[in-house]
Amino acid sequence: MDRKQIIEDPQTGNKGEAFEAFDDIPANPNLTRTIGEVIASRYGRRDMLKGLLGVSASTALFGASALTAPRQADAAGTAASSRYAFDELAWGNDGTHHVAKGYDADILLRWGDPITADAPDFDVLNQTAQAQLQQFGYNNDYVGFTPLNTEGTRGLLCVNHEYTNEEVMFPALGRQDKADFAGMTRALVDIEMAAHGGSVVEITRGTDGKWAVVRDGSRNRRISPLNTVMTIDGPAAGHARMQTSADPSGAQVIGTLNNCAGGMTSWGTWLMAEENFHGYFWTDRLDADGKPDLSDQPEAAQMKRYGVPGRWYAWGKYHDRFNIDKDPNEANRFGWVVEVDPRNPEAAPVKHTALGRFRHEGAETTTSTDGHLVVYMGDDARFDYQYKYVSKGVVSDDPAANSKLLSDGTLYAARFDPDGSVHWLPLVHGEGPLTAENGFASQADVLIDARLAADALGATPMDRPEDAAPRGDGTAYIMLTNNARRKAGETDAANPRAKSRFGHIIEIKEDGGDHAATRGSWSILVKCGDPGIAAVGAEWNPETSDNGWFASPDNCAFDAEGRLWVATDQGSKWGKTGKSDGLYGVETEGSLRGHSKLFFRCPAGGELCGPCFAPDGETLFLAVQHPGTDGTKALTGFARASTFEDPATRWPDFNPQMPPRPSVVVVTKQGGGRIAG
Ligand code: FEO
Ligand code: CA
Repeated sequence: MDRKQIIEDPQTGNKGEAFEAFDDIPANPNLTRTIGEVIASRYGRRDMLKGLLGVSASTALFGASALTAPRQADAAGTAASSRYAFDELAWGNDGTHHVAKGYDADILLRWGDPITADAPDFDVLNQTAQAQLQQFGYNNDYVGFTPLNTEGTRGLLCVNHEYTNEEVMFPALGRQDKADFAGMTRALVDIEMAAHGGSVVEITRGTDGKWAVVRDGSRNRRISPLNTVMTIDGPAAGHARMQTSADPSGAQVIGTLNNCAGGMTSWGTWLMAEENFHGYFWTDRLDADGKPDLSDQPEAAQMKRYGVPGRWYAWGKYHDRFNIDKDPNEANRFGWVVEVDPRNPEAAPVKHTALGRFRHEGAETTTSTDGHLVVYMGDDARFDYQYKYVSKGVVSDDPAANSKLLSDGTLYAARFDPDGSVHWLPLVHGEGPLTAENGFASQADVLIDARLAADALGATPMDRPEDAAPRGDGTAYIMLTNNARRKAGETDAANPRAKSRFGHIIEIKEDGGDHAATRGSWSILVKCGDPGIAAVGAEWNPETSDNGWFASPDNCAFDAEGRLWVATDQGSKWGKTGKSDGLYGVETEGSLRGHSKLFFRCPAGGELCGPCFAPDGETLFLAVQHPGTDGTKALTGFARASTFEDPATRWPDFNPQMPPRPSVVVVTKQGGGRIAG
């Protein structure tokens, strides 16, 4: 289906679903190469003759045997018990959230909540950009916490606001993609822009164990694409391709957008990943089929590879910098990782170009065995790549010096080989194919066109790499959410299912337990979906219950005990499992490896983000974005698209005057204690 057909498809309930369905169309040119060409480019002929490729793809799944084998008794003859000490929640879908028995899940922050002392109260019928700039933004995704006292009872919550849903946000507006955004006035566009970005909010834990917002916290602030000035640094800063009419220096940009997942550094700064930035760029030049006409664009090839201009928001109608006809380089200034110092509200956030430009899902940090900073990052698109960044210098006690680690280092893209090895391919100008003859005149070109550089290096096209969770022992877990576009002839060992609707999780073990290693081994932890349906091809630990299996892993985190937690986002397709998105504890070790338990679930139509544990392990922050919005045509008893006036749920207020509001939820154990024991 083309864009128009997708927008008009009666199954598509809102603009977000149309955007998601359109992005289903792969942009990776390596898919058009034959498998023979790909193999030839990855292996020398001698290697092939030596039989390297004789290893069958299935044997690469050396981790899977633990999943399919009957449950093993331990040495004492007793079955292993779950490391997640809670009674599993029952799966389902309805208009509210649910948490395992014995826990509280309280609402801490909602879209529109005032977060500064002088902010006006939320008035959903009379929103303004000025008010929104002092209120909690929309669609909360990443949540980070950095403590302000040694007890950890005061701290700063750092929250990304990924995107906006105009149908349920503004009264009497309706879907704008169907109307070529005719209803989007300058005032509404500016409110949308003010609702994107991020929030820093001071919170404190009372003697009753409950958390509350400190409205007059001196560091509370909003970051937005409307008015937050940022510095650009690293190898692409100042490059001609980064210069615009508003910024001839190429080193300063207003704002960040579509901030999905992220990360906190060990020195307390917050990394915001810019994901689907392409959707915010506009053009007035459409061809006869209604597609962007890029014939006059000198950078048409990279624009196509990145999906610019997506034309899913009308910002370019009023802000020239978002219109590629007027300022084509502005799109080169988005798609990066932004570092924010939440303790210093005067400090300009920094876009670090050394970490490459792509649809950054997250930016989870760790350190190598000798102290280099390592950042794992996915490019969330069908058939795009997994990356990591290794700093040149090492982490020290000096926060200012540490932030420079994000300015100078090596970016790598991952190649997952069928023999179970992973190779990290450096995106370094002048090395291998990354030369001027191939269109990379400098390191700035390599980083601005990171996708094209990784194409040239032969990185492995993945099933949508979302968040990653690195652990100190050189292990990392990569969430691959789904890819229904992968055809039978396009599977490989690391992406083994055609039409993969439910995704999988890959475990990487870097050589020597060193996150800076350029080689490691990989295995599949779980293949998601319903294990009771053979055609799905799911693989879980056989002890996993009907409540425990899930689809579309997305965000993830380790708790203080080193246990992995996975949050899901099935998008508009949750009807295919019937389950609301939720949070699961997934065993990574021992005979229960690949076992999963449901801990929390969202209101229907919502996506679960976070998760973030406070340092003492007694508080878990979760973010529910777009509640009651995605895929509500599948919701029994509702079965239609949500609108402001007629939403599938009015979570969390359940006030007939209020639409659903994306919100941050705080989970604590009744009576105190660590989450999950
Ligand atoms: Fe914004 Fe890849 O999820
Ligand atoms: Ca995500």
